[in-house]
Amino acid sequence: MFKVVNLKKSFNGKEVIKNIDLTIEHGRFISLLGPSGCGKTTLLRLIAGLEQPDQGRIVNGDDVFYSDKDNIFKTPSKREIGMVFQDFALWPHMTVFQNVAYPLKVRKDTNNMKERVMQALSEVQLADYHDLPIHQLSGGQQQRVSLARAIISQYKLILMDEPLSALDAGLREDMRLLIQRLVKNYHMTAIFVTHDQYEAMTMSDEIAVMRNGKIVQFGSPESLYHHPKNKEVATFIGKGTFVEGQVRNNVFTSTSGIEVKSESEIADGHYGLLVRPELVHISEHGLDAKILTKSFTGERYQYTAQVKDNEMMFYDDKAYQIGDNVKLTFALSQNHFISMEG
Ligand SMILES: Nc1ncnc2c1ncn2[C@@H]1O[C@H](COP(=O)(O)OP(=O)(O)OP(=O)(O)O)[C@@H](O)[C@H]1O
Ligand SMILES: [Mg+2]
Repeated sequence: MFKVVNLKKSFNGKEVIKNIDLTIEHGRFISLLGPSGCGKTTLLRLIAGLEQPDQGRIVNGDDVFYSDKDNIFKTPSKREIGMVFQDFALWPHMTVFQNVAYPLKVRKDTNNMKERVMQALSEVQLADYHDLPIHQLSGGQQQRVSLARAIISQYKLILMDEPLSALDAGLREDMRLLIQRLVKNYHMTAIFVTHDQYEAMTMSDEIAVMRNGKIVQFGSPESLYHHPKNKEVATFIGKGTFVEGQVRNNVFTSTSGIEVKSESEIADGHYGLLVRPELVHISEHGLDAKILTKSFTGERYQYTAQVKDNEMMFYDDKAYQIGDNVKLTFALSQNHFISMEG
C-alpha cells in the first residue's frame, strides 16, 4: 500500500494541502482530478520529495518517504519513483538513447544497459530513433521518451503530472492507451494528475477529486458518476444538469417549477437533482421542452432542450430540429438526489 496520512503544506502562510489522507493499493491507477490551483501538482511534488511537507506521513509499503514524528525526509533520488511531467524534463543536448539511459547511469546500474534501453524504447515504438538528438523529435515522441525513461528504472511507483496536456487530440488518445498498457504490464502503481475528467474517468481504477487543497471524494469512476457526494463532484464528473429544489411525498419540485416523481422512496427535504443525459427521454407524458441544440455524434444525436428555466441534455436516435417542441420524462431514483441539508 502507498499511503499519505494527514499531509499538510502551506506556502507563505496559505494552506495549499489541507490534511490529505490517501491510500492506494499496489498496482492501482489513481488520478488526482480537480480545477487549476486546487493543489494537484503540489501533492505530487510532496510525494516525489521535490517539496517538503509541514506535517504528516508518506509511506510506500515499508518505505517511509516522510514522517514529521520520526523526523524522516527522503530526498527524491532515494524514493525510487518514476516521473513523467508535462514539460518532459528531458536533456536537450543528449540523444534519445542517452536520455533513457540517464537514470541507470546515475545509479551505476549499467549491466546490459544497451539492451534495456532499446527494450524500453521499443515499448514506446521509438527504437529507430535512438541516436537522434531530442530536439528533432515531436512533442508526442518526446513524451514517449520520458515514459521510456520512467519505465526503465523498474520503479513500482510512477507519478505523472498532466503528461498529455501538451499533445493534440489524436496523440493524446494514443498516449493515453500506451500509458494504461505500460502501467499495467509493468505492475506499477500510478498517480496521474489531470484536470480533464474524461482522461481521469477512462484511465483510472480510482479518482481523487480535489478542491481547495482537499480530497472531496475518492472512488471508482463508476461510483463518482453514479453517487457524487455533492454538487461540486456531480457537476465536475460527467455530463448533466444540476437542479435544486424540495422533495415532499416523493415528488421533487425545483425552484424553477419542474416537478418529477422519484421512482423510489425518498425522505422530504432540500435536494439537488443530478439529471444525467441518459436519464432523459422523449415521451408523450413528459414535461414541455424546446430543442435548443443538436449534434450528430455518429451513433446517435445529442440534444439540449429548454425545460422551464433549465437546459437539459439528452440522447436520441431520431432527428429532431432546433426549435421543435417535445416532451421529456426523467427516469430518476433516489441515487440521483443529493441532499443539500446543512
Ligand atoms: N512554490 C510555491 N510557492 C508559493 N505558492 C505556490 C507554490 N507552488 C504552488 N503554489 C500555490 O499553491 C496552489 C496550488 O498550486 P498547484 O500547482 O498545486 O495547483 P494545480 O492543482 O496543480 O493547478 P494546475 O491545474 O493549474 O496545474 C496555487 O494557489 C499556487 O499558487
Ligand atoms: Mg499542476
